[in-house]
Amino acid sequence: MGSKNVALKPAKILRSQDILSISQFSRAGINTVFKTTSRLKNLAINSKPSNILAGKIVVLLFYEPSSRTLSSFDAAIKQLGGQTIVINNPLQLSSIAKGETFEDTIRTLEAYCDAIVLRHPEAGFADKAAQISQTVPIINAGDGAGEHPTQALLDLYTIWNFKKRLTNLKGLIIGDILNARALHSLISGVSLYEGNSLYLLSPRKLRLQKESVKKLRSKGLKIIEIETVSEIPTDCDFWYVTRVQKERFKTLAEYKKVENKIIVTKELVTKYGNKQMIIMHCLPRVGEIDTELDSDSSAVYLKEQIRNGMYVRMALLKIVLN
Ligand code: NCD
Repeated sequence: MGSKNVALKPAKILRSQDILSISQFSRAGINTVFKTTSRLKNLAINSKPSNILAGKIVVLLFYEPSSRTLSSFDAAIKQLGGQTIVINNPLQLSSIAKGETFEDTIRTLEAYCDAIVLRHPEAGFADKAAQISQTVPIINAGDGAGEHPTQALLDLYTIWNFKKRLTNLKGLIIGDILNARALHSLISGVSLYEGNSLYLLSPRKLRLQKESVKKLRSKGLKIIEIETVSEIPTDCDFWYVTRVQKERFKTLAEYKKVENKIIVTKELVTKYGNKQMIIMHCLPRVGEIDTELDSDSSAVYLKEQIRNGMYVRMALLKIVLN
């Protein structure tokens, strides 16, 4: 609906608006999302069905592969009594294969639904869809190497649940910081809160763009870019691991140069971690975190983190559609 620049006052939080970037959220807005999430999580855990989205139809339009984002949005909508139209792989399975434009696809789908959740391989396409859609909100489920705001909200919610705060945190982020959209949104979200420091561990080629670092620092976020595991501080509150985003590289050779340069193992966690921290990963993983860590009490990626994905998305859909 093209309402990206609307200032989100606490009282409004995003009602009937697109969710395109984490930068649309104020701290008060995030607080409200969290409160709604916890309420709906309790309802869902106690198996009390909710009909908040009864009569609503949401299109899930995914141009890129997805396991968690697609299925947790689908589950979230159904948990709330709504229905979905899943269009997976539209490049092959919709009229786009016959040459239909992105504009026509969005204009068509908005005629049949109350919101469109979009994943697209190109950064900026969620914004573009929001400009095209005249009647329904667009929710960005990942746009290329751009943003992944709903992932950031579930990640922040997970950290907040374990640490009981989002201020004065020390975090370690490992992986493809240049290309991972989930990290772009998460780091931007963390920068909303005071007293936070982030250690960014990656090969030099996968560092965050200089302008982004500058912008984040100007907001008060302490960013320390590191290249070797020996520079990891032992008192982090969380570690967040990501895969190197193979699909964003121009050639396989370029990807191979930086693939799995840093692998998070039990040994590494024992040496540089601590008992109070949590270990996160947005998944999928392709070797950068040892499966041996799955049963570690600090590891939340296969447990709370993926489950919170559905609860946070339930809250967001309630806010956007209700
Ligand atoms: C991420 C994505 O698609 O950006 N996955 C997810 O949504 N959980 C991360 C990734 O693909 O590495």
